[in-house]
Amino acid sequence: MNFCFFLVSCLLIVASVCSLRTNNSHSAMRPADRICKPGRPLKRTPGKISCLIIGDSISIGYTPWVAKMLGPDYQVQHAPWDHSDGGALDSKYGLQCLNLFLSTAMLEPTSYDVIIFNFGLHDISYGGIFPEEHVAPVAYAKNLADIKSILLSTRAKVGYVLTTPVPYNITLNNRVKQYNIIARDVMNEEPAIATADLYTWVVEACGDPPYLHCLIADKQPSPHYTSQGYEYLSERIKDLIQDLFQGLHDNIIPKKPRNNSQFTDDITQRKLANSCSQKRAKSLITDKPVVSCTDKTGKVVTVCPYNSTCCDSLYSSTGQGCCLTPQAVPCGDGKHCCPAGFECDSSCSIYTCSCKEKM
Ligand SMILES: *[C@@H]1O[C@H](CO)[C@@H](O)[C@H](O)[C@H]1NC(C)=O
Ligand SMILES: *[C@@H]1O[C@H](CO)[C@@H](O)[C@H](O)[C@H]1NC(C)=O
Ligand SMILES: *[C@@H]1O[C@H](CO)[C@@H](O)[C@H](O)[C@H]1NC(C)=O
Ligand SMILES: *[C@@H]1O[C@H](CO)[C@@H](O)[C@H](O)[C@H]1NC(C)=O
Repeated sequence: MNFCFFLVSCLLIVASVCSLRTNNSHSAMRPADRICKPGRPLKRTPGKISCLIIGDSISIGYTPWVAKMLGPDYQVQHAPWDHSDGGALDSKYGLQCLNLFLSTAMLEPTSYDVIIFNFGLHDISYGGIFPEEHVAPVAYAKNLADIKSILLSTRAKVGYVLTTPVPYNITLNNRVKQYNIIARDVMNEEPAIATADLYTWVVEACGDPPYLHCLIADKQPSPHYTSQGYEYLSERIKDLIQDLFQGLHDNIIPKKPRNNSQFTDDITQRKLANSCSQKRAKSLITDKPVVSCTDKTGKVVTVCPYNSTCCDSLYSSTGQGCCLTPQAVPCGDGKHCCPAGFECDSSCSIYTCSCKEKM
């Protein structure tokens, strides 16, 4: 008995000495930050219905079709301003960069009549090659709730788009289904907002995953669509935007019939919730000086908030993005940066990157 206890104590001491050694021989490491891509290119055009679509490559794909279908009365833009890859990525990145996504690339405040958003394919880590994008279910729910609340605080009509299937892998597709249930629950929480079920819309055209061939889907394995496919997706998105604008959902969908005094309570609660998150949504616009980012010719192409740093950004349409800490160090991969006092690990790439504390 005593000997056992002695042995265990020895092991514990050895283990703690080992961990001390490890900490002494390596400087502290932390995951690198991701550079925020800038927001939409244009300010609101007076007289047009202003719509913002926030999401990943799927929404980048359908945005031009949505704009075409809605016609000249609507101004439809996508945030972030990225037409080549990934867009708003996962919900963690979306929340981190949301204030930028809600401004123009020049950080001008602007307003919207309708905002729709989606996060999911990157959260479930559909390709498995960007581990930092993975967001666990509980964090996904929390991020979506926070994003929803910030978007509602802009006073726009807000709607959510459910994530589309992963045709080539049933395990991943089951994760999409699980995350869509989580997302639907978050959107149904008061104040409830409308959702467009793009998942079912695709299944109606392609059948249940797994499938290797579908007229609207890209060559497999891929979560993307052909241009005909994006046109098909945009039919549901156009409906959602029109319904939201016409107030058919009005951001409050009572789940069951209720009496008037309950209804008033909800509106009061919503106003309270909005006035709290309002502070967060507006925090970009301060009296502090902003940071101007220039291209090679010296022209200002992007503006970053106070206390942030301009960085070359691989997928930003302006080539510039914002690292949200002062005097940050860009990691040279166009995607990551480290806070002051850290340096980028030599193995940094678009796939993964860590920061080492400077000794
Ligand atoms: C050493 O690092 C480990 C893991 O990062 C940490 O749990 C532990 O507290 C550290 N020990 C000291 C003495 O800093
Ligand atoms: C599907 O994705 C999972 C999770 O990334 C992976 O472990 C599995 O090997 C994949 N299956 C196929 C058939 O590719
Ligand atoms: C209406 O709802 C309020 C709040 O839940 C409740 O106190 C009140 O009794 C209800 N009135 C009627 C007529 O059902
Ligand atoms: C700016 O950054 C400094 C250092 O990180 C911090 O102490 C300060 O609170 C920040 N100010 C604002 C307005 O974010």
